[in-house]
Parts: sequence; C-alpha cells; structure tokens
Amino acid sequence: MNILLTGGTGYIGSHTAVVLAEAGHRVVLYDNLCNSDVGVVQRLGQIMGSPPALVQGDMRDGALLAQTLRVHAVGAVIHFAGLKAVGESLVQPLAYYDNNVVGTLRLLQAMQETGVRTLVFSSSATVYGEPRYLPIDEAHPTGATNPYGRSKLHIEQMLADLAASDGGWKIACLRYFNPVGAHESGLIGEDPRGVPNNLMPYVAQVAIGRRQRLSVFGDDYPTPDGTGVRDYIHVMDLALGHLAALDYLGALSGWHAFNLGTGQGHSVLEMVRAFEAVSGRPVPYQVVSRRPGDVASCYASADKAHQLLGWQARRSLTEMCLSSWRWQQNCENTPS
Ligand code: NAD
Ligand code: UD1
Repeated sequence: MNILLTGGTGYIGSHTAVVLAEAGHRVVLYDNLCNSDVGVVQRLGQIMGSPPALVQGDMRDGALLAQTLRVHAVGAVIHFAGLKAVGESLVQPLAYYDNNVVGTLRLLQAMQETGVRTLVFSSSATVYGEPRYLPIDEAHPTGATNPYGRSKLHIEQMLADLAASDGGWKIACLRYFNPVGAHESGLIGEDPRGVPNNLMPYVAQVAIGRRQRLSVFGDDYPTPDGTGVRDYIHVMDLALGHLAALDYLGALSGWHAFNLGTGQGHSVLEMVRAFEAVSGRPVPYQVVSRRPGDVASCYASADKAHQLLGWQARRSLTEMCLSSWRWQQNCENTPS
C-alpha cells in the first residue's frame, strides 16, 4: 500500500518509514522541515535501498495535501507532523493550536475529499494528564496540563467525532510513552535543535562531551531513588506498533486508542547508569529542583495493544542506550 507519513522526516516518522518499507509498503513523506533535516531522506535511502519520495509542504496547505494524496494514490496516512515542546506551547499556545489542530483539520478535509479513510495518529501519554493510577490503561481519564497536551486531546476528540459520523473511517490514536533510541544503523535518530528538552538526548550529549552535566530535576519524588520514573520505549518497537495498527485497521472501522509503552518504569538515575555502562563514558549530573508540571511516575499498561494488535515492545534498555549512543557518535562526526 502507498502510505503518507506527515512529519515523515522527523524522529519517529523516519524510523516508521523504515519499518513500513521493510514490510513492503511504499512510503511518501510530507514535511515542512521545521524540525528536521532534508538529509534524512538520503540516509533513509541508504537503509531502505532507495530514498522515499518527499513532498515538502505544510500541514495547513490543504490543496497540496489533497494533491499529494491523489498523485501518490495514497491508501492510508500516518500523521506524525506537529510541534511537541511542552514549554514552548505554554509561551506560544496559538502556534500549537494552529500547527497541530488546524494542520490536522486540513489533513482530514483533504482525506475526506480524496476518499482516504485510514489514519494512524501520533498521540501521547500526555493526554492522561496527572496519573490517577498506575499502570495507565486506555480507560484512564483524560485531561491535559498544557497547550501541547490539549492540542493532542482536541485532535483525538475530533477524530472520534469523525469516526462516529461516518462508519467508513478507520482511525487509531497511538498514545506514545517515552520514545528513545535510534535505528541500529546509526544513520537516523533524534537530533534536537538547541538544548534538548527530553532526558535521553541530553544524557547522550553529556556522554559525548557536548554538554557539561545533566540537571536531574528533583530527587525527592516518592520513587525508589527519588528521581522521576518513566516508560522508555525503543523507537523501533514504537515504529512496529504503527505497522500493527495499520494491519488492525485493515479489518475494522471506527476510532481506537492504544498505549504504546513497555509497561516498565525506569528512574532518571537508572537511565544515567545504563547509558554510562553502554557508552563507557561518565555522565556527570547535579540534582536541581523539580521541573514544574512533572509527575513522579508514569508508565503504561500495554495489554490492549498486545491483545488486539498482537504487538509488544521487545527491545531492552541496553539496546535503547546502545543505539542512541551509536547515533550520537555519528552526529558528532557528520555535521548537518
Ligand atoms: P519531530 O519534531 O522529530 O517530527 C515531527 C515532524 O513534523 C518534523 O519533521 C517537523 O518538521 C514536521 N512538522 C511539524 N509541523 C509541521 C507542519 N505544520 N507541516 C509539515 N510538517 C510539520 O517529532 P517526533 O518526536 O518524531 O514526534 C512525532 C509525533 O509524535 C508528534 O506529533 C509528537 O507530538 C508525537 N509524540 C512524540 C513523542 C516524543 O517523545 N518524541 C511523544 C509523544 C508523542
Ligand atoms: C515529556 C513531555 C511530555 C511528552 C513526553 C514524551 C515535558 C514537560 N513533558 O515528558 O509531554 O509526552 O516527554 O516525549 O516536556 N529529566 C531530567 N533532566 C533533564 C530532562 C528530563 O531530570 O534534563 C527528567 C524529568 O524530570 C523526567 C524524566 O527525566 O522525570 C523524563 O523527562 P522527559 O524526557 O522530558 O519526558 P517526560 O517528562 O515524560
């Protein structure tokens, strides 16, 4: 099948492109490159044998989206494109609603116009807000604590309304927990612009010597070592979850939500130690005050995805750290 990946040159989209191509699908990437590098296409070509098609365009350009769906005879869309920095969303909420919510609306209108009715959406564990119980299953109440999270929740609700209005739609919302790691080739990975917001890219940059030390945001949480606990999932396992979701939608219509996580929580200090062991480099850190908005622990119940999609995360913490270390080393050697 021909599959359109919006945000396909980004971190998760590029890894999913590899998995889909390996499964025999033809991928078309649609991206405005606001948070990615066009060089990804050529590196994907090295992994996949030939580079995927890239349409450089914005999600809010409905005409270009409709044209792309027609020209490439697209059968399904995986919608990764969006802005994702929580802190930035607090300062620029309108940019987040415009890019994420309006961008998705334009996509849905273009899909409706061209008769493409299968969609997998990149949602997030952030739609659960403050965890009320652990592990978090899909029945956990939803809520958002910042504009980024609210944009995801608005989109999920828009998708549910659409599926309820017309039984032809097949929609899966995949609620990612904490994607980390990189493709085993070291050719693609996560390379955030500026100072990383998230733990693992920061740890990798400290290990390679680009940054002096990690700030650990609080060691007084009610967790075994006092630092925050999260459900880190290898990006290649996450990518396989998209393939499983597409297969599932082949047989069923309607709106469906799935957690994609491992079901295991790891603390900040556990991640630091695992990275040190794999890289052989020290990761100096200092404990600073808690980051506003952070929760003590957050991890998934991934039982629903296991039961209905036949999907399970399989890669270990060591593989997550090893692949991200390999990628970090390649990044240092190849300036973009
Ligand atoms: P990313 O920034 O690496 O990829 C997103 C891509 O979308 C980028 O290539 C960017 O250039 C593109 N894009 C953004 N706005 C666009 C627009 N208006 N038009 C066209 N292209 C646009 O991020 P990622 O980590 O790969 O995340 C992919 C999706 O998964 C996002 O929707 C994100 O909110 C969601 N998500 C990510 C995480 C995570 O930790 N990485 C966790 C939960 C959910
Ligand atoms: C972040 C996002 C969340 C998103 C999730 C998955 C924020 C506030 N939340 O959450 O919306 O769904 O990623 O991508 O950005 N940490 C440090 N030092 C650092 C960075 C992080 O100690 O420099 C700690 C955090 O306090 C947390 C853990 O590491 O305990 C993981 O942090 P992070 O990678 O930012 O992910 P989340 O907090 O889960």
